[in-house]
Amino acid sequence: MTPTSPPSTVLVTGGAGFIGSHACVELLDHGYEVIVVDDYSNSTPQVLTRVERIAGRFVGAVYELDIRDRRALSAVFDRHSVDAVVHFAAHKAVGGSTRMPVEYYDTNVGGTTALLRTMHEHGVHQLVFSSSCSIYGDAGPGPLDEATPARPTNPYAASKWICEQILADVCHRCPEYTVLCLRYFNPAGAHPSGLLGEDPHGTPDNLMPYVAQVAIGRRKRVHVFGADYPTPDGTAIRDYLHVMDTVEAHRVALDHLADGPGMRVYNLGVGKGSSVLDVVTAFSEACGRPIPYEVAARRPGDVAELVADATAVARAWGWRPIRDLADTCRDAWRFQQLNPHGYAGSARRPNTKA
Ligand code: NAD
Ligand code: WQD
Repeated sequence: MTPTSPPSTVLVTGGAGFIGSHACVELLDHGYEVIVVDDYSNSTPQVLTRVERIAGRFVGAVYELDIRDRRALSAVFDRHSVDAVVHFAAHKAVGGSTRMPVEYYDTNVGGTTALLRTMHEHGVHQLVFSSSCSIYGDAGPGPLDEATPARPTNPYAASKWICEQILADVCHRCPEYTVLCLRYFNPAGAHPSGLLGEDPHGTPDNLMPYVAQVAIGRRKRVHVFGADYPTPDGTAIRDYLHVMDTVEAHRVALDHLADGPGMRVYNLGVGKGSSVLDVVTAFSEACGRPIPYEVAARRPGDVAELVADATAVARAWGWRPIRDLADTCRDAWRFQQLNPHGYAGSARRPNTKA
């Protein structure tokens, strides 16, 4: 590989997860060699069989390991000539992070530093990092750009902000690093094939998979957390970004690793807010029947509105989302219909022997 060519072998941490699995398809579709590491703490190996079925190509290798295990991670770098890493592996439940803060800091921050050390030992210095709009905290109404001060309000968001600061400092001190840090707003939806989607372990924390499970009859009704927000219909507003748009941004990011060293940070969102009731209505239209819901108390820690100003990434890379909320609900519904119980019972891809 020349210094200006895009990476050809990409290590995807958390590649069996919701966004990671869609990213694997996107990368395989674009000719990348993909290596996956995942401990399946919030996913299943079956996902990767689906990835290969959609892409019509094999993932180069799949390792079941915890990214904090530097020996195991190092063996992966020994075996493969990795050009760049896309780092999705993390714990992501805001509620879980308030109950288990040490576990969250250890996995999200400790996992990232273990990865960085291992990358450095193997001369790999190109990273695309999954950050989150949650670092902005309660930043008030209106689209938020990247200059909005970070004010994380829970350990999950704090863990992402700590990682960003570590990565910024490493890039500042070590000119060999290129880090592209993507702050996603609310990725949702599924691959249009219906083979890949969001299948969280246990009760979904996030709105879209919860609504989908109500639509398929696994749950009785949606609990709308608060209808007394200062928004047009009283329910909280978010920026729902189709997962395919999300992963296309990662593929574009890999092309831009060659733009030069340093850290660059971009929001990924649609730039348009949808309320909880907008989502319920859009999903009802997608599945052709009304989704039952009832208004419940606000969820502690939630904010009224979080919408991205994602114009910086459009200016820098020309990336813009092309799908809307109706597309997101239609694809989430297709996945839920074809997989009423998620990935349970589908064929499992064997891991690569470490
Ligand atoms: P996910 O839970 O579906 O995927 C994460 C994957 O990482 C899972 O497969 C899990 O098993 C794996 N993993 C967790 N800890 C690990 C460890 N120690 N070692 C190896 N693998 C491990 O989550 P997702 O929605 O796909 O999120 C991917 C990334 O994007 C995360 O970093 C998350 O914080 C970030 N993010 C997600 C959202 C969202 O709404 N989904 C929004 C902003 C940012
Ligand atoms: C969306 C809206 C809820 C469930 C979280 C993280 C954020 C990012 C995305 C990782 C909110 C309401 C939800 C339900 C509801 N993840 N809701 N009933 O909280 O915006 O963002 O996921 O980085 O960091 O904080 O997403 O999908 O949980 O909620 O009414 O059963 O739906 O109150 O207003 P959130 P969400």
